[in-house]
Amino acid sequence: MKKIFTLLTVLVIGLQLQAKEGMWLPHLIAQLNYSDMQRMGLQISAEEIYAVNKSSLKDAVVHFNGGCTGELISSQGLLLTNHHCGYSQIQSHSTKENNYLEDGFWAASRSEELPNSGLYAAIIREIKDVSNEILEGSTPEMSEEERDSIIKVNAQNLLGEAQAKNPGLEFELKDFFFGNQFLLISKVKYTDVRLVGAPPSSIGKYGKDTDNWVWPRHTGDFSMFRVYANADNQPAEYSETNVPYKPAQHLKINIAGVKEGDFTMVYGFPGSTNQYLPASEVANTVNEYNPFRIRIRDQIINILDAKMRVDEDARLQYASKFARSSNSWKRWKGEILGIKRTNALEVLRQEEKLFKQMCEAIPELKDDKDLVAKMDALYAKRIPLTKERFAYIEVGYFGIEAFRHVLNYSNLIKHAEAEDEEALKTEADRLAKRMEGFLKDYDYDLDKQVAINILPIYLETIKTNPGEEVRELQEEGSDNWPEEIAEMYEDAPFFKEDFAEELKKNPAKMAKKIAESDLYELSLEMYSHYFEVINAGLKPINLEIDALQARYVKALQRAFPKKSFYPDANSTLRVAYGQVKSYEARDAVKYEAQTYLKGVMEKYVPGDYEFDLPQKLIDLYEAKDYGPYGENGKMPVCFVATNHTTGGNSGSPVLNARGELIGLNFDRAWDGVMSDMYFDPSICRNVMVDLRYVLFIIDKLGGASYLVEEMDLVRHHPDETVTKKVESEEKSSVKTKAADKTKAEPVMEVQYREN
Ligand code: ARG
Ligand code: GLU
Repeated sequence: MKKIFTLLTVLVIGLQLQAKEGMWLPHLIAQLNYSDMQRMGLQISAEEIYAVNKSSLKDAVVHFNGGCTGELISSQGLLLTNHHCGYSQIQSHSTKENNYLEDGFWAASRSEELPNSGLYAAIIREIKDVSNEILEGSTPEMSEEERDSIIKVNAQNLLGEAQAKNPGLEFELKDFFFGNQFLLISKVKYTDVRLVGAPPSSIGKYGKDTDNWVWPRHTGDFSMFRVYANADNQPAEYSETNVPYKPAQHLKINIAGVKEGDFTMVYGFPGSTNQYLPASEVANTVNEYNPFRIRIRDQIINILDAKMRVDEDARLQYASKFARSSNSWKRWKGEILGIKRTNALEVLRQEEKLFKQMCEAIPELKDDKDLVAKMDALYAKRIPLTKERFAYIEVGYFGIEAFRHVLNYSNLIKHAEAEDEEALKTEADRLAKRMEGFLKDYDYDLDKQVAINILPIYLETIKTNPGEEVRELQEEGSDNWPEEIAEMYEDAPFFKEDFAEELKKNPAKMAKKIAESDLYELSLEMYSHYFEVINAGLKPINLEIDALQARYVKALQRAFPKKSFYPDANSTLRVAYGQVKSYEARDAVKYEAQTYLKGVMEKYVPGDYEFDLPQKLIDLYEAKDYGPYGENGKMPVCFVATNHTTGGNSGSPVLNARGELIGLNFDRAWDGVMSDMYFDPSICRNVMVDLRYVLFIIDKLGGASYLVEEMDLVRHHPDETVTKKVESEEKSSVKTKAADKTKAEPVMEVQYREN
């Protein structure tokens, strides 16, 4: 008895420390989180956050093209997301004459808003638990394969039925807690989403890769779009006759500012996390996998960086590839440090010990007491093959550009072998065109150098049934590799000057040449090896691991019935909540929660590739011309809070205690990026642009005050009892050309709260 009592005490203390962790399912907030959120300062009801039969905040949150989040901020479908989320759209409209990436862009009227084919914004209609329907017919005694096939059939039936009944909606079935729970999610997908505005990259990407994942931060990472619909307010492909979408709800923007301790919540679509790994696998990640992947990317990043610094062409060709590669590379490094600094492995091992003790104390869990040990063994068993997997992903797929590109030629070769003249010709023409596009952003010497430096890491790592080409190279020994690799590039037909011409003229001959080239052969062999040897080898272990993980989270929930559990992120809508909070990163290093324009100026390096600034911003700073957005003569820029977020939460609205927009999420602080595996509220922080900075840039720098007029601004801190309205004269201090005569008058509400 005493033992259980101590366990419970430890648990309750643990619970309080963990109170802010989690990415919660909106439809379960009323049940799981609401009182905790209220205790932390939330002032609105759970129904105002999520409801199905009436409008709620969820109706203002959109999944932006599947990878980011955005929010609706006017009754006319105005949408806010990050600059890095809208980057490719901004880029696609940029030309040398109208360089929107460099100079920024503001549509002066609705007719100047720019359509983007392929871009969509999805709004969630309903989240419904269908676990019983999906699991019907499966039993605990079944094998994983049997269970899987039953689930597949049930899922197909369920999705088919739902779709037939609701042709206007899209349905998605998602599994949670490793297949313990299934949710059917319906959404409305809008496909006419137009670019409205973006700041210059010197603001939207200020600090670029040097400042990425860094706090204190000074980036105005936002861009604006508008969702359009047909005359019935329904989704429609782009058409001139479409009209601005009228959302069921749009967010009010609060410009009163934030202070330490303020309640915040983030509503968005986090991509993926690993919160229920045993300590051993977290250790594998930070001791084996991350260092291995970092080692490969170190090579790539050093080679790219050296060339980009001296070669303008390479800089243009490789800027976004570099950003992509360095983004994860930097995060992996941060994870290693964060796990160490928070003593996470020890904490997790203690929790596992506690779990085991609970299993021993609770009769129905007695068979689960060795679950963690079993998982440990399987995770350890898959280390070598998992490293081979990362070797291929990092080297053969993401690392060496030519290797990935030449995989496109396999159909050409098939058609040539089948002597299908017509298909061969069509494919050759397609590939010739594709090669042109590829070469535009390709530097042959640079890629060859990358290959010489990273292919050896692959060759050293692959031990499981290597194919013929790899085995030959391995037998030759590493001394010969640099020369062999260089030759492979020099002999390859792809980079010869007349390649595209020849391919079109003489596809059969070229197909043969390609098929016989070492570069193609090696790349194809590595690709097949990845699927046929590595993934096939990992599959049975992974199935076993998944089954144990599923049992583990179920057992955890039984062992600790008072604790609320949240499922790993999986690109579904979630709510995270926390507080604006400064933090101590290391001994004697304390970070404030808010940054100001002064800090932007401190980092300014005229003419620099990462830290240059538009003259107009400097002028505004010198004149302290901040309009209604400043605070005691200072212009706020970014702030941090303890919300639990991850990739995919970019562009997510950050709301105050009243559900009003105060920030735009775009990053996490370096010290706490291990939060995908282990969240520690003492140093895990999400990074947001202060909405006041967003409005300041739109209004004062962009001169687009007509857009601000369309929004609902309130200026009262949630702690104040009486709220003031923001006068429209105050709001748009710079009057510029009126946007669109047809637009609705801004609705501004005066709110009084009696206490
Ligand atoms: N770290 C942020 C995220 O994970 C921003 C990435 C874009 N910026 C960059 N410099 N790579 O997406
Ligand atoms: N920048 C990330 C994104 O694009 C968000 C940062 C994070 O991983 O928390 O989603």
